[in-house]
Amino acid sequence: MTSVKTPSSNEIAYDVKDLSLADEGRRRTEWAESFMPVLRQIRERFAKERPLEGRKLSACLHVTTETANLAVTLKAGGADVALCASNPLSTQDDVAAHLARDHGIKVFAIKGEDHESYYSHIRECLAHRPDITMDDGADLVGAMHMIALKRLDDLEPAVRTWVEGLSADERKQLLANVIGSTEETTTGVIRLRAMAEEGVLQFPVIAVNDSQTKHFFDNRYGTGQSTLDGILRATNILMAGTTVVVGGYGWCGRGFAMRARGAGADVIVTEVDPLRALEARMDGYRVMPMAEAARVGDVFVTLTGNTHVVSTEHMRLMKDGAIIANSGHFNVELELDALAKIAQGPRRVREFVDEWMLEGKRLYVLGEGRLINLAAAEGHPASVMDMSFANQALAAEHLAKHAGTFSKAVHRVPEEIDSDVARLKLAALGVEIDRLTDEQEHYLSSWDEGT
Ligand SMILES: NC(=O)c1ccc[n+]([C@@H]2O[C@H](COP(=O)([O-])OP(=O)(O)OC[C@H]3O[C@@H](n4cnc5c(N)ncnc54)[C@H](O)[C@@H]3O)[C@@H](O)[C@H]2O)c1
Repeated sequence: MTSVKTPSSNEIAYDVKDLSLADEGRRRTEWAESFMPVLRQIRERFAKERPLEGRKLSACLHVTTETANLAVTLKAGGADVALCASNPLSTQDDVAAHLARDHGIKVFAIKGEDHESYYSHIRECLAHRPDITMDDGADLVGAMHMIALKRLDDLEPAVRTWVEGLSADERKQLLANVIGSTEETTTGVIRLRAMAEEGVLQFPVIAVNDSQTKHFFDNRYGTGQSTLDGILRATNILMAGTTVVVGGYGWCGRGFAMRARGAGADVIVTEVDPLRALEARMDGYRVMPMAEAARVGDVFVTLTGNTHVVSTEHMRLMKDGAIIANSGHFNVELELDALAKIAQGPRRVREFVDEWMLEGKRLYVLGEGRLINLAAAEGHPASVMDMSFANQALAAEHLAKHAGTFSKAVHRVPEEIDSDVARLKLAALGVEIDRLTDEQEHYLSSWDEGT
C-alpha cells in the first residue's frame, strides 16, 4: 500500500508506503534524537534565528531516523524541505510516514522502490524548485546537470518526460535558483570534483564528507559498526573464525576491518593504493590481490567507491557458500549484472540473501549489492550521524548566509564549523580537554629553543 497525497495544485506532496506507520516512525525518530545532542542544539538556535527562512531545500539522503532529525532541524531554520531517497533500499518507511504526516515535509521515498519510482522521486525534489540541494551520492545534482548541459537523453525517463514539459526559461530558472549544494559522501564528492574539473559544475558545492568531524567518525566508526550489523542481521553468521576479505582500506574499510577483527574474524585487505596497503599491513592484516583473496575468503565486503572490485572472475574462484556484500555507495562494486548472465538464480533464501549457483558452487549476495548497512540494518547509529548532520545543517546555513559569494567549485566546510561540531560533541559527551598555557603557545610558535 502506498500513501500519495495530491493537493489541488496537482503537485504530489508526498509519496510514502503507508501513513499508518507514522507513530512508529515518530517513536524511533525521538529515540535517535536522544543521541543527537549537537543537532538538537543547532535546531534550538535555528528555531530562534531562522537562517533558512524562505529557502526551498531539496535533499536526496537515506531516509532514516537520523535524516528525519536533520530534516526537522532544517525546517526549524525556516526551510521548506522536500526529501527523496538516495538509495532504493535505504528508506525506513515508518520514518517517511512520520515526516510527511507530522512535519509537513514533502517526502518521496519507499523502501524497495524500483528504478523508475526512484527517479520519479528525484523528479519531485527537482519540481520543488530548490535553492539549496543536499545530496548523498550526487544523484540529484547529477540530474540537474544533465538538464543544464541539455543532455536530456542521459536523464532517466521519469525525469526526462517532466523536463521536456518545461519551457526553456523554466529549465534555466531551475538551475538559476540554486545558490549551492552540500554533499554527504565520498562517492558524491568524487563525482562533483569530476564535474568541476570538466568545467561543467553549475553552482558551488560544500563537501560535507570532507570535514574531519564527518569522515573520521561517520565513515570509520559509523560504517564500521553498521556494516558488520547489516551482515549479521542478514545472515546471522558467526564472525569468530571467519575469513573476511575487505576491499578498500579507506575510511570505511579501516572501520569495518577493525570491527570484523574485533568480532573474531581473520581479516584480509585488498587495496590498489600502496600507502593504504602498507597501513593495512602494519595494522596487522594480511594484504593480497583480490584474485588471491577470492580463493580463501568466506565473506567479501567492498568499501571502495569504485566499480567491479569483485568481478565475476573473482567469483569463479570463490569457495562454495561464499558471502558477498557491498557497503560502498553504489551497487557497482560487485559485478552483479555479469553474474546474472553466467549464474543460475537468484533464489531468495533469507530476507536480503540471494543464492546464485555458479559452476556448481553457491554464492550468497547480500542486499542486492546495495550498501548492506542500510539495506539490512539501520545505517549509522544516531550518535555519529549527529556530527555529520550538524555539518550538513551548518553548511546549509553557511550557503544561505553567504549566497552569491562562492565560486562554482567544490568547497571545504569552513574549519570553524568543523571545530565547533567537535567542541559541541565533546561537551555533550561530558569530555573536557586541556588548554594550551601561554608558555606552550609561545613555545609552539617559536624556533629558538632547542635541546
Ligand atoms: N555504507 C555507508 O553508509 C557509507 C558511509 C560513508 C561512505 N560510504 C561510501 O563508501 C565508499 C568508500 O568511502 P571512503 O570514505 O572509505 O573512501 P576512501 O577514498 O577513504 O577509501 C576508498 C579506498 O578504496 C581503495 N580502492 C579503490 N579501488 C580499489 C580496488 N579496485 N580494490 C581495492 N581497493 C580499492 C582506494 O585506494 C581507497 O583506499 C564510497 O563509495 C563512499 O561514498 C558508504
